[in-house]
Amino acid sequence: MATVCLVLFTVQYFWFLSITNNSCRRVHTTVSTFTEHIAQQTPPSPRTIYVITATYRRLEQLAELTRLSQTLRLVPALVWILVEDATEKTAAVEKLLLRSGLSFVHLLAPMPEIIKKGVKEKAKRPRGVSNRNRGLKWLRANATSGVFYFADDDNTYDIKLFEEMRDTEKVSMWPVGLLNGGFGTPVVRQGKFEGFYSGWPGRRSFQVDMAGFAVSVEFLLQRPKARMPYKVGYEEDFFLRSLNPLKPSDIQWKATNCTEILVWHTQTKTPSPQRPIDLNLYNGTNIPILFNNL
Ligand code: UGA
Ligand code: MN
Repeated sequence: MATVCLVLFTVQYFWFLSITNNSCRRVHTTVSTFTEHIAQQTPPSPRTIYVITATYRRLEQLAELTRLSQTLRLVPALVWILVEDATEKTAAVEKLLLRSGLSFVHLLAPMPEIIKKGVKEKAKRPRGVSNRNRGLKWLRANATSGVFYFADDDNTYDIKLFEEMRDTEKVSMWPVGLLNGGFGTPVVRQGKFEGFYSGWPGRRSFQVDMAGFAVSVEFLLQRPKARMPYKVGYEEDFFLRSLNPLKPSDIQWKATNCTEILVWHTQTKTPSPQRPIDLNLYNGTNIPILFNNL
């Protein structure tokens, strides 16, 4: 009886081993086919978009950066180069960047004192220029390919814009909506460039808003002298001219031949600061913490 049991047990044991092995093989085969299937389906990685944003300390800064960072979160393969016009990194900005989940670079580029002293009225100063040039310097030192775009911290961006700019070979351009019912745009007839339409042509060769163009990193790297000047009203024009040689035939007209508005030049109303508050009255509550986090 014991012998019969042993024989039966041994037969069962080998039968069990054979099915487990088989099922293991089956699982393995399935996994490897599945892996190959995934590998075939994975599209090539998208080109990186480097978004260079100028920012500076003011009451509305954190609100602007929150909105922009959440827009950028929706765009794949993006690096946010955030450049503060400040001599020290703002702790709240650093915290926002860390929380954002974005790939980012946090840099400083204060507006030169000579510019501040030379132009007393803030509105007449060339704003964001030191920041953008610092972003370009970072790209020259760290990037070899991709696309870059100057996205000011206060504008409004449709995420479709980023997919439009991703295949920029040299320079691409598109319309920018204004809040006065107007816009600025290249004039395009049947895919051919005819000039620019702008509320303020000035004496500009490129009548383009800062938000209205992107440039390929490779194209920038081939132009070591390209930079943005401290010339109010002519920042975009002189920068694009510094990319010379740049012909209209080098430019891709985006947003369905410049018929769609995918970015708005918006501005947040400057708030009047709130009344001072006696924080001692709120010792130990959340109120002092909130003030500290602003
Ligand atoms: C902006 C640009 O500053 C001009 O260079 C550009 O000619 C113009 O748009 C345009 O697109 O045609 P505006 O929107 O009036 O002009 O300027 P702001 O939004 O006040 O500043 C532009 C950027 O520079 C913002 O990202 C802002 O955060 C930053 N900025 C502003 C600084 O870094 N420092 C400052 O002192 C002021
Ligand atoms: Mn602005």
